[in-house]
Amino acid sequence: MKATAKAPANIASIKYWGRKDEKLRLPANDSISMNLSEVFTITTVEFSESYKKDEVKLVGKKLDRKEEKRIIDHLDRVRNLAKIKTFAKVVTKNNFPTGTGIASSASGFAALTVAAVKASGLEFSERQLSILARQGSGSACRSIPDGFVEWKSGSSSDSSYAHTLFPPDWLNIVDILAVVEKKTKKISSSEGHALTESSPFYGVRISGMKDKLKKIKQALTNKDFKTFGEISEAEAVNMHAVMMTSCPPLYYWTPETLKIILSVIEWREEGLPVYFTIDAGPNVHLLALPEEIDKIVQRLKRIEGIKGIIINKPTEGAKTISTHLF
Ligand code: PMV
Repeated sequence: MKATAKAPANIASIKYWGRKDEKLRLPANDSISMNLSEVFTITTVEFSESYKKDEVKLVGKKLDRKEEKRIIDHLDRVRNLAKIKTFAKVVTKNNFPTGTGIASSASGFAALTVAAVKASGLEFSERQLSILARQGSGSACRSIPDGFVEWKSGSSSDSSYAHTLFPPDWLNIVDILAVVEKKTKKISSSEGHALTESSPFYGVRISGMKDKLKKIKQALTNKDFKTFGEISEAEAVNMHAVMMTSCPPLYYWTPETLKIILSVIEWREEGLPVYFTIDAGPNVHLLALPEEIDKIVQRLKRIEGIKGIIINKPTEGAKTISTHLF
C-alpha cells in the first residue's frame, strides 16, 4: 500500500539537548515546542512485493550512506511492528534547506513515521506515532501532535512521547525564521547529544530545568508572550553555552547569527517586543507578535548575510495527505 504524510518542523522553547538513554533516545529533560506552518516535509512510502530492496530518495539532495541507513532502520521498526518483510520505496521532500538546524530530522522522521505506518496497514494512535517517531529522531516526536507541544522525557520507550499542551491558535504569535546558512552542518544534532556530559555546565543546565519548565507552562497558560519570549531566549543561549563548552566544542553560530542576536537585543531596548531562539545550526528564529512582522522583516533585510526570511504561524502536527510524490 502507498501513503503520504506532511509534517511540520518544530521550534523548541525548552530544548532537548542530551539523553538519559542513548539507545531508546530518551531525553535528559522534558521539552516544549511549537509546530511551524511554512517549513515542512512531505514523504510518500510504498511497501510492495515488486521492490527487490529499499529505495530511498530525498528530492534535491543525495543522501549519504549514514542518512540512508537511518531511514531504512526506521522502516525496519515499522516492518517489525506490522510483521511484514516487504521492501519499500520512499520519496521525501523538504520545502526548506536540509540539515541546517531547521529541524529537518524532526519533520522528516515525523512524516516518514506517519506515511510508513499507514502504508504498512497499521492503525496507530497519536501517542504510538509519537513514540515511534522519537526512535528515528528525538525531536520528531514533537512534530506529531498539533500546536504547542510538550515531550515528556519518560522512563521507558512507552512513556516518552509528545502531546498537545495548547492548540495552534492559543497564542497569537509568529516565528520569523532568518536563514543565514543553507549548507549542511558538519556535526549532526544526533552526534551532538552524546557530547553534552563533557560540558562543565551541563549539570547546571539540567538542575535548572524543572523550574524553567514550570515557568514557561505558566506563561503559555496565561498567554503571557513576554515571559514566554524571555524564557525561550535565555534557554537557547543556555543550550548553546553547553554546546560551545563540550569536548569537542560545537560552534553552530556564524557571524551573521551573532549579528541578529545583538540586533534583537537592541530592537527590544527600542521597545520592539521580539525574542530569538536557535537550534543546532546558525539560523535564527525570532518570536514576535503578528502586528510587528513588517517592522521586523524591514530591519532584518538591513542585516548583511541573510539569505531568506520565512514567516511561520503555530500549526497542526503530522497528517496523511492524498497527493503522492510518485
Ligand atoms: O532530534 P534531534 O536529534 O535532531 O535534536 C534536536 C535538538 C535541538 O533542535 C537542538 C533542540 C530541540 O529540542 O529541538
